[in-house]
Amino acid sequence: MPGPRKQSFAKPKNAKGTFRRILKYFKPYRGQLVLVLIGLLASVAANIAGTYMLRPIINEYIIPWIGNENPDFTGLIGQLAVMAAVYTIGILGTFMYNRLMINVSTGTLLKLRLEMFTKMQTLPISYFDGRTHGEIMSTYTNDTDVMREMISQGLPSFISSAVRIVGVFTMMIVLNPILTGIAILMLVIMMLITKTIAGRSGRFFKARQDSVGKVNGYIEEMIEGQKVVKVFCHEQAVNSRFDELNETLRRNTAAASTLASIMGPIMNNLSHVTYAIIAASGGLLGVAGIIDIGTLGAFLQYTRSFSMPVAEISQQANNVLSALAGAERIFALLDEKAEEDEGDIVMVNARVNEKGELEECSERTEIWAWKKPTGELIRVRGDVRFEGVTFSYDGKVDVLKNVSLYAKPGQKIAFVGSTGAGKTTITNLINRFYDIQSGRITYDGIPIRQIKKASLRGSLGMVLQDTHLFTGTVRENIRYGRLDATDEEIVSAAKLANAHYFISHLPEGYDTVLTADGANLSQGQRQLIAIARAAVADPPVLILDEATSSIDTRTESLIEKGMDSLMKDRTVFVIAHRLSTVRNSDAIMVLEHGEIIERGNHDELIKQQGKYYQLYMGMFELS
Ligand SMILES: Nc1ncnc2c1ncn2[C@@H]1O[C@H](COP(=O)(O)OP(=O)(O)OP(=O)(O)O)[C@@H](O)[C@H]1O
Ligand SMILES: [Mg+2]
Repeated sequence: MPGPRKQSFAKPKNAKGTFRRILKYFKPYRGQLVLVLIGLLASVAANIAGTYMLRPIINEYIIPWIGNENPDFTGLIGQLAVMAAVYTIGILGTFMYNRLMINVSTGTLLKLRLEMFTKMQTLPISYFDGRTHGEIMSTYTNDTDVMREMISQGLPSFISSAVRIVGVFTMMIVLNPILTGIAILMLVIMMLITKTIAGRSGRFFKARQDSVGKVNGYIEEMIEGQKVVKVFCHEQAVNSRFDELNETLRRNTAAASTLASIMGPIMNNLSHVTYAIIAASGGLLGVAGIIDIGTLGAFLQYTRSFSMPVAEISQQANNVLSALAGAERIFALLDEKAEEDEGDIVMVNARVNEKGELEECSERTEIWAWKKPTGELIRVRGDVRFEGVTFSYDGKVDVLKNVSLYAKPGQKIAFVGSTGAGKTTITNLINRFYDIQSGRITYDGIPIRQIKKASLRGSLGMVLQDTHLFTGTVRENIRYGRLDATDEEIVSAAKLANAHYFISHLPEGYDTVLTADGANLSQGQRQLIAIARAAVADPPVLILDEATSSIDTRTESLIEKGMDSLMKDRTVFVIAHRLSTVRNSDAIMVLEHGEIIERGNHDELIKQQGKYYQLYMGMFELS
């Protein structure tokens, strides 16, 4: 049972750099962030001022009432009204900065997701070879979510706590330096404890994110492989493997949360102890006449409100750590090396003017030209050559060894050979899914590296070995080949591929909606649509990778007729398992272990009595 591939999560090695990079995303919100800061300061200031007002209220109003038979409440009511107003300002400030931070966080995330997705489209195929979809998905969902939380909650609460601590301390020093000294001592103890716990739980938070990625990757893989799992009755094994991963996730989450949740009660208790110590010391100072009751009341209130921000900072430290780890994974994706595209030659529509010269034009003419940056036009003919091409996927094992071949314009070249011989690999190199390590591939005499990838791929019609259809109607799927194709062109492409017959028998015909990957069609039908999709693109070069392998013999002969007209005047590379397709090719390349061991047309190869002969004599299937 294949497990998910090893995760390669970056640890937040460079927290500072990552944080700076996040800050860059805040640039467009500079104005709003200034308002956030104002709201934040207003909220903290209101809190501190409100608390301070306890002092005059106690000293000037409440204490004079002691023993007074006719207390005057008017002054007190006025004071309380001011206090209420101050707190209201604080609440408004809090609401304002929270609301604005939602703008900042959702906007930043919007931008990040777009950047990630856009980046993903530029990544080479090899990026996806080494990762499960679940891992990549986890970056989009989990990592962005912790980041959103950090931006909308973590950061503001971090800043407001810091400001509050400074403000509260200032007030405490003003009120009474001796008691403040005691409070500072307690604070240092609290900070030491926090640091120890936060450091440990940070590690578990990373482990938790890692586990989330693994669990997601596994689920995703098992959804895709559901049929295989059932065929081999591996449900039990799959469940127990999932159980393991799930348990690891539980353990890591529990460890991370436990440490985080221990922090709260410890801080709480410590703050009670602090409160008691300060109350007792304050009482003694009061008896000695050093401090009045109003001051002590306000001071004690500050003592209460200073441990809260300290606890909050430590709590947020965890969130910020895991958010930074997530952010690093996001940035790692953004920093992935994009597919190299150094080519500057593009493909344009062209026509031949009265003088017999090639000239560029905007409409489709069925004639194409390569346009060099100098403006020089070279007619696209479909001459593809490999010269001593050696290629390896992993840089270790050579999958293709010194392959040389040429396809003259309009020729039909067939590749045959055992499975794993390197047939698909050759086609992957023509369209530059991968780049070669040595040798040369030219297209109409131009090294393909000099051709812009979009133009190169646009000139190649491909039917890939594993067909992929998108959610949408049959018509939309065929139109994927060329977005400006008319409905008539789509139908004639389908007719060419012999897909028209079965499509018209679908419940909604061309408007039948295909579910993900065409699951409601047969394998052969999917291939027919894929062929129609390539046909509608009407490209100068066609590459068909085992396009006919899932099609019955009768349909195949129908397709062949259609293909013949599709292949006319085009260079075609075809990888086929059936001799009928191979036999009438202009040249057949027999591949074995990444080398071309025989080449020639059918008759020549039969005469040679080599591998092809064996394949031909041995069986009808060439794989
Ligand atoms: N993405 C990849 N990463 C690493 N190795 C790969 C990759 N794709 C193919 N290979 C290896 O390259 C070799 C050639 O594979 P290729 O797909 O070209 O074979 P093929 O001739 O098309 O076989 P088949 O007839 O089964 O389709 C194989 O040994 C395979 O293991
Ligand atoms: Mg293949």
